[in-house]
Amino acid sequence: MKDVMTQTIDFTLNGKAVSAEIQGHWTLVDLLQQGFDLYGARQSCGQGLCGCCTVVLNGKPVSGCLFLAALADGATIETIEKDEETLDPVQEAFIEAGAFQCGFCTPGFVLMTRQLIAEIPEPSEEEIRVYLTGNLCRCGTYPQIIEAVQKAAARMRAA
Ligand code: FES
Ligand code: FES
Repeated sequence: MKDVMTQTIDFTLNGKAVSAEIQGHWTLVDLLQQGFDLYGARQSCGQGLCGCCTVVLNGKPVSGCLFLAALADGATIETIEKDEETLDPVQEAFIEAGAFQCGFCTPGFVLMTRQLIAEIPEPSEEEIRVYLTGNLCRCGTYPQIIEAVQKAAARMRAA
């Protein structure tokens, strides 16, 4: 007998139209990990405090640990796995600046940095700190992250 708590949702994932059978309690992180083997959005705090679970929903970064998968029916979702074959200026800058150690937080920082630069093309250090306040790096690579954001922003302004 079909579980009454399951439902099928249709959405766009990294540019492809997909469907998934989900359970009612699933979050976006559950949907990506259990439904599609995508682990770039990581569950850490589970409370919307660390940014490790960031995904881009309808063009805006959200905490995937808080957002119910059922609400993504008809939505567009992008994850760090989009365009895996190429690096964008933000990813290049993070690598060049050494803006990570374990890398657990990095997908969330990269996705938030893309949005930051889209909104603030020439961010000051203070603006970067404020904008990325919802992303935590337990390895403490904040100086390198700020350097990477400014490097990526400069490169994107010049492009
Ligand atoms: S796991 Fe979602 S914000 Fe920390
Ligand atoms: S690089 Fe390890 S948590 Fe940020």
